[in-house]
Amino acid sequence: MKHIASESTARPHRPSALGVVLATVVAVSACGGADDRADAVAQAALVAQGQQIFRHDTFGDEVQWTDTLRLHEVIATAVDPLTALSVGLKVDSEALPPAVVEGIRNGSVDLHSPATTVALLKLNAVVGVKGTVETLNGVDRLARVGITCALCHSTVDNSFAPGIGRRLDGWANRDLNPGAIIALSPAVDAATKSALNAWGAGRFDPRHNVDGLNKPVVIPPAYGLEGIHRITVTGDGDEIAYWNRYVAVAEMGGLGTMSEPRLNLNITHGTQDLVSAKLPALQAYQLSLKAPTPPAGSFDAPAAARGKLLFEGAGQCASCHSGATFTDANLRLHPPADSMAEPESPSYASRSATKQYRTSPLKGVWQHAPYFHDGSAATLEDVVQTYNTRRSLGLTSQQVIEIAQYLKSL
Ligand code: HEC
Ligand code: HEC
Repeated sequence: MKHIASESTARPHRPSALGVVLATVVAVSACGGADDRADAVAQAALVAQGQQIFRHDTFGDEVQWTDTLRLHEVIATAVDPLTALSVGLKVDSEALPPAVVEGIRNGSVDLHSPATTVALLKLNAVVGVKGTVETLNGVDRLARVGITCALCHSTVDNSFAPGIGRRLDGWANRDLNPGAIIALSPAVDAATKSALNAWGAGRFDPRHNVDGLNKPVVIPPAYGLEGIHRITVTGDGDEIAYWNRYVAVAEMGGLGTMSEPRLNLNITHGTQDLVSAKLPALQAYQLSLKAPTPPAGSFDAPAAARGKLLFEGAGQCASCHSGATFTDANLRLHPPADSMAEPESPSYASRSATKQYRTSPLKGVWQHAPYFHDGSAATLEDVVQTYNTRRSLGLTSQQVIEIAQYLKSL
């Protein structure tokens, strides 16, 4: 393995959830009354609990990933760590004990052995994958495997090596190839396997197993959603918890119930409900995730300033991307023709509960290329040029670049 960043003493300090709780308590104690303090403590505890759920809770979905798809067998026999990284799985470096870190560095940890993957799962170090490892006569065996929200909505900062680093919760894992992973299952037939293998990295179709149609969307970030009361690209839910319930039950296979009369959907898995009670904390955690600010020097500030005027003026962008979150989502949804990804077949809107699209929020948009729900625009310049052509805006190529620079500054 090539150069690996040393665990320098200068490692930026990332506060633990408990640290955040304490800091909040201290800050609030300084000014508020007893009730404010109690509220802040309760809220911080809820967020901390939500972080655990987001990262580590499978909602009992091992029934789907182990009993039905038998992915534990595939992992234990065929998925060495290099293969796991190649399908976009990420390793949480902070979960690795010093001996393992040293072993990866000096090559004594075998990255070509599935047993190492099982060892990483035992350490709870594979982001979004939860393994239950049983030890019999000194031999580890992967007994169960399940997935968590972090599989698709977290990545790592690559600070240790590519694919290995500290968690970045809420960031979409655009390297993850969920279709290719599910297609590894011995329980999936050949036709389904080829459909799943065609999805590609960073894409997932959260309606395929519900309506039988097949066209994936890009995995979106789960940050920057505070104050937005239309969730998903089609605005199906008024709050995050609506969609979390949908995914936890209908896609992850968690134990609980999802009913959606607009889609004539009624799914119940199991006899227990391992989802409902967790939704408030899970939502509180996601609402606490701010969109990341653009790195210093990543955009041209004077061009961005000119781009802002064009965004609000000749580009007509602000007529839909309005307000602090750059979306009119709380006021209206839009007909399919307002999406630059349409017409598409099958239309994603037509498969949703609202049959419309939500204007995308734009905070942190620099971070998550490709763009539009189908990922059809590779860059922000492509996005603006698409609008320029489709909406006959008459922007010069210089103006297109300036609007793109503005988008990179949000
Ligand atoms: C297999 C990948 C995958 C997993 C696992 C997954 N999601 Fe998602 N998530 C997606 C995709 C794809 C979408 C886009 C769907 C859409 O907008 O119609 C999405 C949408 C979302 C959104 C909407 C974002 C927005 O801009 O409105 C949120 C929030 C979210 N997911 C949170 C979660 C949480 C919490 C969990 C765990 C309960 C979870 N997801 C599990 C793939 C996944
Ligand atoms: C008529 C309303 C409307 C106007 C005008 C509009 N947008 Fe959009 N915008 C949308 C909708 C709806 C989406 C979601 C499309 C989709 O993903 O299918 C979107 C998506 C985007 C995205 C993709 C975000 C992501 O997460 O992938 C960007 C970037 C964007 N718009 C920028 C702009 C810019 C720049 C302009 C002006 C040149 C503009 N928009 C004008 C409604 C609009």
